[in-house]
Amino acid sequence: MEIQLWHNILNPYELAVRELVAKFNHLIKEHRDRDLYSPIEQVTGRVKSISSILEKMQRKGIPMERMEEEVEDIAGLRIICQFVEDIEKVAEIISKRSDMEIKSVKDYIRNMKESGYRSYHLIIYYTVETMDGPKKLQAEIQIRTMAMNFWATIEHSLQYKYKTNIPKHVKERLSKAAEAIIALDNEMSSVRSEIMDAQNSSQLQTNLVSDILNNIENLYRLSNKREVMKIQDEFYRIYATNDLRQLQQFHEQLDIISEGYRAQAVTCDIQGGF
Ligand code: GTP
Ligand code: MG
Repeated sequence: MEIQLWHNILNPYELAVRELVAKFNHLIKEHRDRDLYSPIEQVTGRVKSISSILEKMQRKGIPMERMEEEVEDIAGLRIICQFVEDIEKVAEIISKRSDMEIKSVKDYIRNMKESGYRSYHLIIYYTVETMDGPKKLQAEIQIRTMAMNFWATIEHSLQYKYKTNIPKHVKERLSKAAEAIIALDNEMSSVRSEIMDAQNSSQLQTNLVSDILNNIENLYRLSNKREVMKIQDEFYRIYATNDLRQLQQFHEQLDIISEGYRAQAVTCDIQGGF
């Protein structure tokens, strides 16, 4: 058998994990910059340890030369979402990307594992650029809610403690806890739409107020100060009514007035030779 140069083999996987984590973190940032709710709450990644790779190959009877094909999770990503509904959104985002190609899907949410484990798994193909040229490799992406992650983390520690022979009474408790996690995720989902509605109208109001005040400030520079004072008073009156629709109408009217003044200012500038 040839000598295995583990570090050479694993190097591209390290790059892949780093790139993928950076890309998903950037997605979170893009959402927040645009005042949009991010379906991704958090992302982490790891390269499988050599000892775990060897253990898996032994358990599954994988020969050395098939390692990179058959050990699909040498590169592993974990994406944590707030709500179950977000998981589908993340999977959709991934499926639409040109830099990630989905090889297979395991839906342990619709088909919970006997242990009680729930998570949505994707195996993707991803290409990294190395000194020797492009290398297409596989990565496993686990997508789950915070609640599912809580359960999986605890269960994993217990597996480790009992070396896969978890006693029956502990298994039963884990099963019960898994049921409670399902109930918790459902409960959170029912609150989700209310949270989203509140977030949306609050964001809309924030943007409207900021636009209106910008407009008033610009008008103050260009037009009759007494007129602008009246407009400002009107804004405070409408703001106090807490009526988003009225605020929106006021914003539209103010836009039209500002447009008029801007056009006038440009004409004056042209006449004055800039
Ligand atoms: P391995 O389980 O890694 O040998 O891979 P597999 O090819 O059997 O795929 P599977 O989808 O069963 O598991 C992939 C990964 O999901 C595992 O490596 C774990 O990280 C996670 N996983 C699967 N089942 C369980 C479970 O019962 N409990 C916990 N905590 N994690 C699990
Ligand atoms: Mg398994």
